[in-house]
Amino acid sequence: MKLPELTIGKSLKSKRVLVRVDWNIPLTGELAGLDSLKLERTFPLIKDLSKHGAVVILMTHLGRPKKQEKKYSTKNLIDIVKKQSGIRLRFLDKKLDDPKGLSQAKKLIKVAKPSTIFLLENVRFNKGETENDPKLAKVYSELGSLFVNDAFASCHREHASVVGITKLLPSYAGPSLMAEVEALSKLLKKPKKPFVAVIGGAKLSSKIGALESLLKIADKVMVGGAMAHVFFAAKKMSIGKSMIEEEAIPLAKKLIKHQKLLLPIDVVVAKKLNEKTKARVVRVEDIKKTDVIGDIGTGTMLAWSQIIRKAQTIVWNGPVGVTEIPTFSNGSKVLNQAIAVRSRGPAYGVVGGGDTLPVVMQSGMGEWIDHLSTGGGAMLEFIANKGKLPGLQALTKELKN
Ligand code: 3PG
Repeated sequence: MKLPELTIGKSLKSKRVLVRVDWNIPLTGELAGLDSLKLERTFPLIKDLSKHGAVVILMTHLGRPKKQEKKYSTKNLIDIVKKQSGIRLRFLDKKLDDPKGLSQAKKLIKVAKPSTIFLLENVRFNKGETENDPKLAKVYSELGSLFVNDAFASCHREHASVVGITKLLPSYAGPSLMAEVEALSKLLKKPKKPFVAVIGGAKLSSKIGALESLLKIADKVMVGGAMAHVFFAAKKMSIGKSMIEEEAIPLAKKLIKHQKLLLPIDVVVAKKLNEKTKARVVRVEDIKKTDVIGDIGTGTMLAWSQIIRKAQTIVWNGPVGVTEIPTFSNGSKVLNQAIAVRSRGPAYGVVGGGDTLPVVMQSGMGEWIDHLSTGGGAMLEFIANKGKLPGLQALTKELKN
């Protein structure tokens, strides 16, 4: 896939450049402040455009707002961005799906000095964003004269600020998006063998496409986290009181006999998943009715680390335990270490996902991994759909509708 690349130079002086970034980061809760990669990766493009005198208009979503609430306002990002990059953003809070708001926004952009960097309000506050409404795409297009997509993590979404807009303005791929595509493509194009994958997290249904694809291209696929519970249930094994996505059991049944699929052989269990709990390691056959699974067990940690230590290509998406609680975070930490060490050595390692990256970042081993993907869903869909994502196809004009 040849993506159109923007040449940044003098010709951009005073040009209005609309840039889609993915600054959807957790602002509250356990993961707050631990996913700064999404921001950092976009700073070089923004600085470069501004340095060359362009008027930059940034657009991002933040969360999945059902209504316009302050906690989802992109205004919350302004100080974080300034602290991390020194970039001063001018917040444009105009309601774009309202003609008056649009006309005010256009005026402010028109009179802005070269190098000004605007940040629009959360694109998901606009009616029609998630439906890819052409009317909203038209509104966006009136703000800029060209469009750059530097939001790989949003490229699996067929939304107006990702797809619709590309039909109306000359459109380019930003550098961090290009880097993601190049790095992830290596997993699909003749990856070095043995190729192993670790897939964790809670929802099997959201990862089934990537799992099926990995079972074809990888040599071993290790499945942990609450996703594994679905496979245990499909095998009619007891999972006690553990969390389970019941509806996904039929999906698990289809894959259960796959030779490349590896499930935990033991798990860490407790009566409750909290910090004070007393945890035990048990074989998966010995899980009691009152037990709740919180992590993979020590035997699994050892076995999977040994597999990782022999791999030449490694991909990891999704924690294999409840990483917010220290007692249940060891499996993910051990696998992170094995992956980082092996990636620092001969293997090509890729890790991605909003819940997985904090484990890597906290370990201080991120530098050793060949590629950290900012995309959670986007990375998995990229693997599942052989590199095809609506946001990318829109840039190459492969997407017709
Ligand atoms: C992500 O965090 O994976 C992206 O920002 C996409 O967010 P979404 O799943 O709400 O579309």
